[in-house]
Amino acid sequence: MRIPQTGISKEEILATLQAFKSRDMDWKGGKVFGYTYSPGAESAEVMKEAYLSFLTENGLDPTVFPSLLKLETDVARMVINLLHGDANAVGHLTSGGTESIMLAVKTARDKARAENPQILQPEMVLPKTAHAAFHKAAHYLSVKPVVVDIDPATFKVRAEDMERAITANTILLVASAPSYAQGVLDPIAEIGAVAQKHNLLFHVDACVGGIHLSFMRQLGYEIPDFDFTVPGVTSISCDLHKYGYAAKGCSTVMYRNKELRKYQIFACTDTTGYTLINPTMLSSKSGGPYAGAWAILNFLGEAGYKNLVQTVQDAAKKLMDGVNAIPELRVLGKPDMCMFSFESEAINVYQLADEMAKRGWYLQGQFSTPLTPRNLHISVSFGNAHSADALLKDLRECVEIVKAKEPINSEGIKAMIGAALQSPDPQAAFSQLAASAGLAGTELPSEMAFINEVMDNLPDPICNMFLINFFNDLYV
Ligand SMILES: Cc1ncc(COP(=O)(O)O)c(C=O)c1O
Repeated sequence: MRIPQTGISKEEILATLQAFKSRDMDWKGGKVFGYTYSPGAESAEVMKEAYLSFLTENGLDPTVFPSLLKLETDVARMVINLLHGDANAVGHLTSGGTESIMLAVKTARDKARAENPQILQPEMVLPKTAHAAFHKAAHYLSVKPVVVDIDPATFKVRAEDMERAITANTILLVASAPSYAQGVLDPIAEIGAVAQKHNLLFHVDACVGGIHLSFMRQLGYEIPDFDFTVPGVTSISCDLHKYGYAAKGCSTVMYRNKELRKYQIFACTDTTGYTLINPTMLSSKSGGPYAGAWAILNFLGEAGYKNLVQTVQDAAKKLMDGVNAIPELRVLGKPDMCMFSFESEAINVYQLADEMAKRGWYLQGQFSTPLTPRNLHISVSFGNAHSADALLKDLRECVEIVKAKEPINSEGIKAMIGAALQSPDPQAAFSQLAASAGLAGTELPSEMAFINEVMDNLPDPICNMFLINFFNDLYV
């Protein structure tokens, strides 16, 4: 592929771009239970116009574009207030949950470097259910992740287990509100008390939950304290581009005060170029996501969010009850909001996801761990809430189809993996296994059950290697 010698017409370009979407999952029809968060056509249109009106403005320098400073501080302050930060609390907009989390970890690391230089290998204590973004932050920032097991009945971490994992090198405690996989809140107040007792920073990952849980609480649902009302909480991440229903590319990272936030900011005048001051990771960045977030918060208002949240909670309850009413399926734990997962002892859930995919549904497979069974995840949001009855009908039918199908030979796969691990050239043996699982070349496989079965049975480091090789081949 080369840049065309002469330009192509607008009509052709737009038609071609639309055609590229032909194999994408149908999120507009409400059949994708994850990834997209649609606030409805009218709100989306307002947000789109706002986003496009700031497409070219650059967040690199607030002195050149004070409008972006205004948008950022307005949005951050609205979220800080929603999460009960006081006048000392501060925050920034970032490109997403991952960036917010990486910044919170960097802030903790740099504070420790300044105040506790004797710590040579900083550690962060986090539950097994914490998002992978914390492991990515640990990897990028050379912080050691100290992973704490969860209670396998509730999928929540226990505060006393977090406390036991603290050492002289600990710089940060982490918990989720809620964790993505099973949609449950960790005991934030109890972990906050541990953080205070040990004089440690404590980050609450409210990337998915911050906004939705706050409005659930306003609607009268019983939600334990999870935000700045908990004294030990020192920073929070909360995404606008998930249950804030903003366009992609917008999250917040918030701190209890400026004293802490200063460790996030990076400045550099050591080059021949312009003075660089970056409060967040990105330098040049479009104003689009900021304007989109500002627009949706103002367009929906509290009343609009409460409407969305009520609709979503009603659908989530219907779905969870409906899943539990299917004898072969069981919802895991007691989800606190509208995200949940379910397992089956009777059928292979990855085959079930494939059958559902044939009917256009996207349910997300999650692998097993020693404390959690393999399962399928569902994130209910306003854009898919209306599909609850249709989803349950197809789920009931697809369970019957999978029951009648040839099951995947799990024992055979385990034997193949065992043989590859023993082989004199494990790299080659695993490449062969990857190819037989369909993880090779640049085409994505249409059925995922076999691949998921293989990956679920692989030791984590080998599975990660598998995936890295797969992506290394998938892209240019
Ligand atoms: C709890 C939680 N934290 C962090 C993230 C990462 O967010 P992002 O994909 O915006 O980087 C996610 C994503 O789903 C999440 O569920």
